[in-house]
Amino acid sequence: MNTDTDLDSVHATLDRVLPQTPITRAFGIRHPILGGGMMWLSDPGFVAALGRAGCLGFMTARSFPDVAAFSRGLEQARGLAEGAPVGVNFTLSRHSDNGPVVQMLDAALEQGISAFETAGSLPEPDLIARIHAGGGILLHKCAALRHARAAQAAGADFVGLVGMEEGGHPGPGELPTSVLGALAARRLEVPLVLGGGIGSGGQIVSALALGADAVVMGSRFLACAEIWAHEAYKAAIVAADENASIRVFGSLGRTWRVLRNRTSLRVAEMEAAGERDYAVYAPLVSGALTRRFAYTEGDSDQGMLSCGPAIGFVECSESVARTVATLLAEARASLARLGCAGG
Ligand SMILES: Cc1cc2nc3c(=O)[nH]c(=O)nc-3n(C[C@H](O)[C@H](O)[C@H](O)COP(=O)(O)O)c2cc1C
Repeated sequence: MNTDTDLDSVHATLDRVLPQTPITRAFGIRHPILGGGMMWLSDPGFVAALGRAGCLGFMTARSFPDVAAFSRGLEQARGLAEGAPVGVNFTLSRHSDNGPVVQMLDAALEQGISAFETAGSLPEPDLIARIHAGGGILLHKCAALRHARAAQAAGADFVGLVGMEEGGHPGPGELPTSVLGALAARRLEVPLVLGGGIGSGGQIVSALALGADAVVMGSRFLACAEIWAHEAYKAAIVAADENASIRVFGSLGRTWRVLRNRTSLRVAEMEAAGERDYAVYAPLVSGALTRRFAYTEGDSDQGMLSCGPAIGFVECSESVARTVATLLAEARASLARLGCAGG
């Protein structure tokens, strides 16, 4: 794969490797691969690149200071996506102000956005009704089967379940993605998205085999060319292996899976010593520090850098399109091993 033309033809041959599902059809995408919203990183350029590669990315609303900036970001993403769909992520916190979610939702609906990912708390019934009234489709992502069932009962169109491997906030549970997925297939009626630790095409095939209609991935994309962060941060992700993440803050009810670095080791130490007041940690763990020191300046020893064991699959920094082509080629090989057609 040397040129973009080569890549286009590779994509064409891989177009039908993975099946169309209720989720690919509803979102209008070629592959059942979603790029979950990633705070500060899921910006217009990255989300659009996922769309052009036949997947769906969710731009994180919280990364924008106000509604006007968010609307401009969305316009930019739509322009760069060249007609491919663009999604929006609303992460709803139990612990802090959720900002102007309703205004941002209205702005997105006005721009014709229909794909929404929520995470954190279950959206209020009013918000779900507003999404549906505006023609939107809601994927609610959570980390426990009981939350998934609650989201289904509340009217989420699709439910995302993430295992303890998830980069970011996997919840307090100890269940891996494979177990959650197998149970979810028995206990949920709405189409299922499975995520957490997925970094290879074989795992995508396995998630679909369990009953998922799409996967949600984040960590595998962190070193992609279209991620705006500093090259030194991406080099740290490439260098890190599948053992390089740790979970902290479980004892505070805020489990967070991040890169093992100076900040997270200090946090783990304070937690082990019994500190339970989140405010004490704030000067160490604020998102602004992560954005400034790690993402902007490239010092990956500073800040809480969300990621999970799927970074073990990241071997270099390359475009989203190439990464997706690799995933599809791996998926095809897995299907062939099982004697299934796939592309
Ligand atoms: C750097 C980073 C930031 C994230 N930020 C958010 C976020 O703001 N909101 C959210 O719903 N999920 C967030 N996530 C979770 C992803 O959307 C996705 O569910 C997760 O990456 C899937 O697990 P994986 O990292 O093992 O592939 C983040 C993940 C990463 C790696």
